[in-house]
Amino acid sequence: MDKLIIKGGEPLNGEVTISGAKNAALPILCASLLAETPLQLSSIAALKDIGTTLKLLEIMGVKVDRNADKVSLDASEVTSFEATYEMVKTMRASILVLGPLLARFGSARVSLPGGCAIGPRPVDLHIKGLQAMGAAIHITHGYIQASTLHLPNRRLQGARYYMDLVTVTGTENLMMAATLAEGTTVLENAAKEPEVVDLAECLNKMGAKIAGAGTDIITIEGVEKLNGTNHNVVCDRIEAGTYMVAAAMAGGEVTLKNVRADLLDAVIDKLREAGAEVTVNGETITVKSDGKLKAVNVRTAPHPAFPTDMQAQFMAMNCIAEGVSTVIETIFENRFMHVQELQRLGADITVDGHTALVKGVSHLDGATVMATDLRASASLVLAGLVARDETVIERIYHLDRGYELLEEKLAALGAKVKRAN
Ligand code: UD1
Repeated sequence: MDKLIIKGGEPLNGEVTISGAKNAALPILCASLLAETPLQLSSIAALKDIGTTLKLLEIMGVKVDRNADKVSLDASEVTSFEATYEMVKTMRASILVLGPLLARFGSARVSLPGGCAIGPRPVDLHIKGLQAMGAAIHITHGYIQASTLHLPNRRLQGARYYMDLVTVTGTENLMMAATLAEGTTVLENAAKEPEVVDLAECLNKMGAKIAGAGTDIITIEGVEKLNGTNHNVVCDRIEAGTYMVAAAMAGGEVTLKNVRADLLDAVIDKLREAGAEVTVNGETITVKSDGKLKAVNVRTAPHPAFPTDMQAQFMAMNCIAEGVSTVIETIFENRFMHVQELQRLGADITVDGHTALVKGVSHLDGATVMATDLRASASLVLAGLVARDETVIERIYHLDRGYELLEEKLAALGAKVKRAN
């Protein structure tokens, strides 16, 4: 199994180009199921989760043509409406085929995702939302079996639906389903994440009538059919944030290209508070730092507040910052698995429920650590960049799910990092 070996202590300098967002690409790839003509996408990062989604779509009969960061998806002849347990267990976001399949074909069979490393993560709101639109849904043998065959014209029916919790993929699934429903759907307490907005923009170009994406009320007027379009996926704000923290911790001057600062307000504010110099210029962000940082308190919450997907990286930063900080996780039940690994590098962290108390230490010492989920793995890479001597990160397949060309991009900035098996 691949591992990453990092020799810490090198400053980072130079430019890094940010890839298209994984979390925007996944729902947009699934949206291809809604279209009767091919959907042409660009800025599709070379990531494991993208490969898994393309494979899932191909199994269903979607013709996929991939060339570098461009993908063409032709769903004119879909033959299967099923996402098996084997597919869903490797990637929870496979649940995103449920809404499109049901809306266009009136039938879907999708495995329940089951537990995952960062908590139980149920999909009850996806199911209740589709039921509110009239779908008949039965959970049998670990599968969600959904149908619209009993409905007028076999179409989902527009509905008002209030989501108890802000859910990103839940909002996306219901928004996609509602595009082909009969009548108007209003989603209340919707997720405002930029990836939801990017999906809505793509769907509107396909012929959907969606208003309010990016606010907490999204209104979708159903249409009879959607067609393909061209769409360039929004930049990955979490990848960008990770490189910004890397530059702040390691010291040096790093310029991020192909990035949107307006999607990173909470992250940029916290980096400035920590003492890094952050300059925005059009589609670039430059982070300059001497590596001497002040501890900052972090509390995760839905967008536009501080993202849970940046929590682990800021925890790593606080480990070597001056002072004491609290890191509060409000989105996921069990998203502190990186703590034990950071402790193995010498970090001083105490966890009490959803709060971690981090006391900055003068330095971290390299060790062998194990990646447990995508963003936890990123925090270990960041810690490794500043730790004394060598840090070996095992199980880096998690990183390959979400960071395109990670070691190449870091090495180009001057980090001493290599992959081994
Ligand atoms: C998405 C992102 C993930 C990010 C998360 C929160 C993708 C592919 N993944 O995950 O990177 O960390 O948003 O920003 O976009 N919940 C329920 N019932 C539901 C749905 C969710 O209880 O039906 C709970 C979850 O367990 C969690 C919270 O709501 O505690 C938020 O989860 P959600 O926004 O749905 O996360 P994902 O969409 O899975």
